[in-house]
Amino acid sequence: MRTGRLVLIAAALAIVLAAGVATFALLRQGGGAPSGTVPIGGDFTLTSHTGQRVRDADFRGRLMLVYFGYTFCPDVCPAELQVMADALDRLGPDAERVAPLFITVDPERDTRHVLADYVPFFHQRLVGLTGTPDEIAAAAKAYRVYYASAESGEEDGAYLMDHTSLVYLMGRDGSYLRHFTAGTTAEEMAAAIRQPL
Ligand code: NI
Repeated sequence: MRTGRLVLIAAALAIVLAAGVATFALLRQGGGAPSGTVPIGGDFTLTSHTGQRVRDADFRGRLMLVYFGYTFCPDVCPAELQVMADALDRLGPDAERVAPLFITVDPERDTRHVLADYVPFFHQRLVGLTGTPDEIAAAAKAYRVYYASAESGEEDGAYLMDHTSLVYLMGRDGSYLRHFTAGTTAEEMAAAIRQPL
């Protein structure tokens, strides 16, 4: 009687444990662990600041350093683009093997001409990318980037954009390698880029 009860309890525990392991395995499969299978990144078709139609596949064979922002951003975007530019400078000639991309989340204002006036200020090799609202939405969705316009309260109708501010490092095959958050120094970014370079 007593042994039977223990066996039952042991069996119940085994089932609970097995369910836990299965759930854990499923969560790992579907969620957050950074690996090549996590779907961050992917196809985009946009227009560069020099007027060329550009697809993400055009950058195969190079790493991509991808940042979403907008030129009217008063502080966060310029600071992050400067870190990217400084990281590229630290790579020296190896920077040729990295494609630095700045994708606007504000295509209404960020025409390719606006981008052309803006990106060289940070780095000669920085590529500014814009597109139709649908093209930008598709690119942002691929990178899981959130963006939305926010009222500035100014009478002239100027507005700010809320947006995800992460720098993505993508591999030579276009797959996600890692991302950098605000506060990452140019030195740290350059060191991290060197690893897969
Ligand atoms: Ni910004």
